[in-house]
Amino acid sequence: EPAPLVDGFGRRFSYLRLSLTDRCNFRCTYCLPQGFVKQKGLPAELSPDEFRRAVSGFSRLGLRKVRLTGGEPTVRRDFTEIANGLSSIESVERIAMTTNGYRLAERAAEWHGAGIDAVNVSIDTLDREGFARLTGHDRLPGVVAGVDAAIDTGYSAVKINSVLLRDLEGAGWEKVLEFVAQRDVTWRFIELMRTNDNARYHEQQATPGEGIRERLLNSGWTLIARQRDAGPAIEYNNPHYRGRIGLIAPYSPGFCDSCNRLRLSSRGRLHLCLFGKEGFDLRPYLQSDDQQSELIDCIVSAMPSKTNGHRLHEGDSGSTPHLASIGG
Ligand code: GTP
Ligand code: 5AD
Ligand code: SF4
Repeated sequence: EPAPLVDGFGRRFSYLRLSLTDRCNFRCTYCLPQGFVKQKGLPAELSPDEFRRAVSGFSRLGLRKVRLTGGEPTVRRDFTEIANGLSSIESVERIAMTTNGYRLAERAAEWHGAGIDAVNVSIDTLDREGFARLTGHDRLPGVVAGVDAAIDTGYSAVKINSVLLRDLEGAGWEKVLEFVAQRDVTWRFIELMRTNDNARYHEQQATPGEGIRERLLNSGWTLIARQRDAGPAIEYNNPHYRGRIGLIAPYSPGFCDSCNRLRLSSRGRLHLCLFGKEGFDLRPYLQSDDQQSELIDCIVSAMPSKTNGHRLHEGDSGSTPHLASIGG
């Protein structure tokens, strides 16, 4: 058996984020304000078989959790087929997805049936007009219906992603509390990250998560111990609420120390960091089921290049134009 995935800083990697596509049907102001623009001359997106072979290779190196992300992963017509292919790999314990939720209400059961057991949904504001302005789509009621459908379908975890923006500040705290009081979900506030395309926007809108932490600690919320294979959120609970509130604070010191994840782009490049310089092309090793040992060698040999952390503090976003390009 090959050694598990470890980097030069002793971190182990059990969580792979698969970007199924760069495409998205929303136009979030911090991500794709102009909407998705197709770039010419790029290789095709990976096929369901290529994704299955990739995950199969990683699974022999200690992978336990896969997340399907994008762009918006569900714009792919073969989304369910991809999920089914990954579900056939035995050692993968959990398949999760991240979505803007525009189809979740109708598809929650189908996707769960394809083996997806956790879903994260973006809701930056619970104000309907604010949501429409931010995403370009007046879909808040449908997205909330999707969250409720996912809960009713029996997904083991349903989480909300909510980017902290100055424009939204203060407004909405009461609505978030109400939302979390009524539902078994984790509402995660996320510090806005600077990317190459949103530098000016970031300067105007970024606001630190520290205020949320203080607010929670001062109002009866307590820190929950981090779970195995957990993502980057720090989570809090409160006996008066069914759900939890979390904070993803990439600008806080030590954020990258617990990094446990790698990324595969929709075109088959392995990215060791969300804000790295370049990827390693795995596609040549995804062409047949007999190439697993070459694939594994390539992955293992890339690992020493992983840096100890991002350099966002220095205003360095690597080569990431926006998070839709690399799967958040
Ligand atoms: P869980 O596994 O459910 O905790 O999900 P997750 O937080 O790992 O995934 P999700 O796709 O919902 O991402 C939520 C936010 O966390 C997004 O804004 C991501 O860009 C951000 N995020 C996830 N992983 C990383 C990371 O390694 N570095 C940074 N800087 N941000 C990350
Ligand atoms: N900073 C923080 N979060 C972002 N997302 C997209 N772009 C950024 C950014 N620049 C979030 C989306 C979604 C999640 C996958 O990533 O809102 O919830
Ligand atoms: Fe689409 Fe997500 Fe980017 Fe919004 S944040 S534009 S939903 S990829």
